[in-house]
Amino acid sequence: MSTDAETPKIAKLKIGDKELDLPIIEGTEGNIAVDIRNLRKETGAVTFDPGFGNTAGTLSKITFLNGEEGILRYSGYPIEELAQKSTFLEVAWLLIHQELPTADQLEGFEHEIRYHTMLHEDFKRFFSSLPKEGHPMALCAATASALSAFYPDVKFDDPEEHRWKAAVRLLAKFPTIAAYSFKHSIGQPFMFPRNSFSYTENVMHMMFSNPCEEYTPDPVAAKVLDLLLILHADHEQNCSTSTVRTVGSAQANLFASVSAGISALWGPLHGGANQKVIEMLIAIHEGGKTARQFMDMAKDKSSGVRLMGFGHRVYKNYDPRAKILKKACHDVLARLGSSTPLLDIALELEEIALHDDYFIQRKLYPNVDFYSGIIYQALNIPIDMFTVFFAMGRMPGWISQWLEFHRDPHSKITRPRQIYMGATLRHYVPVNER
Ligand code: ACO
Repeated sequence: MSTDAETPKIAKLKIGDKELDLPIIEGTEGNIAVDIRNLRKETGAVTFDPGFGNTAGTLSKITFLNGEEGILRYSGYPIEELAQKSTFLEVAWLLIHQELPTADQLEGFEHEIRYHTMLHEDFKRFFSSLPKEGHPMALCAATASALSAFYPDVKFDDPEEHRWKAAVRLLAKFPTIAAYSFKHSIGQPFMFPRNSFSYTENVMHMMFSNPCEEYTPDPVAAKVLDLLLILHADHEQNCSTSTVRTVGSAQANLFASVSAGISALWGPLHGGANQKVIEMLIAIHEGGKTARQFMDMAKDKSSGVRLMGFGHRVYKNYDPRAKILKKACHDVLARLGSSTPLLDIALELEEIALHDDYFIQRKLYPNVDFYSGIIYQALNIPIDMFTVFFAMGRMPGWISQWLEFHRDPHSKITRPRQIYMGATLRHYVPVNER
């Protein structure tokens, strides 16, 4: 295939004798895509792209990501500025509306979120029917899906204001769901949300307080949690977001679609990596292996070991979120007075990787999960809750991408093709003749 120099809006594709003009779509940041929507109709051929690493499934106005240069922007705003100056709920509004809220809009939105945090009392029975040992991501996915049963009026073709209500409910109730899944695992009573607290203070209160004594959330911890949620809020068409869009493309409701996204995020190659990173650092710390010995294993394909929190499908440069979190790690550990052995190991692993040919050649850098677990741990968040916090942060991204899909007149049900490589026609043989 070649791009026509005189008419750069067209790419030419030749298959045998047949030549096809394929329009080129140009994004606002200059990135281009070859529009192959007529390819199969015109030629009978399809494209082959496992993992969809070269395929854009949608036009989107939500998030811009340049993996070569390590750039991430939500609706044009650099992640570094939002991390420093914004709040999670403001970012949530930005992602959903693609504009920053006015002061009145933000106040109204915060009020709406605050007044939708409670869960139906019957959820207590729902939780009590699930095993205490179950991973909290399983509980969170099940509960998000169960919201459809508690709010059966939520439908795909709802008017916009009903969809907004479903979005508010998800954003507001997810911290309660997260905290209940933790309380359930340790057998403590569920704590109601408190309207006097901020979003992150509230989740800390619901997780760490109990009915027997007063609890005041630590403002340093609440601030850094808010930062973590901002950094996780959206990341364009990643695995879980594509899952939310795919499920939503069948006209499944928002709760059901997001529940599928939570399940996808749980995987260790995706959001579940934050748990795996800390387990890896602890294993190195306790297991008597040096960082260099571990790195040798990570480079040896037969070991089955990967350096968790390293590498990314899109970033071939330092993940800008990891850069912010690395600095936050130092600040938080210093301010909370926590010890730093795991951070020291992480820094050593990174230092080795950044000077090692294996990692340099493959452009493997720390991703968002490499440093986040160290902060969660300093905040006393249990390890199996790390990915739940990732899900809490990603909620506005999933919601905004689901809403964008349904507002897009070109949206279609997701249904990729395949190249069949199995047996050709053969005829059934009765079992006693085989
Ligand atoms: N440690 C060691 N080698 C690695 C790592 C790693 N963390 N990541 C990639 N590689 C190697 C692969 O073995 C492969 O080597 P090869 O070319 O010799 O075969 C090469 O780098 C390319 O890797 P792929 O797996 O093909 O890259 P892909 O884009 O499919 O995968 C992924 C990206 C899944 C993130 C991968 O880098 C990985 O497994 N990282 C560890 C898990 C992780 O941190 N996941 C979180 C990602 S961020 C997020 O989802 C929120």
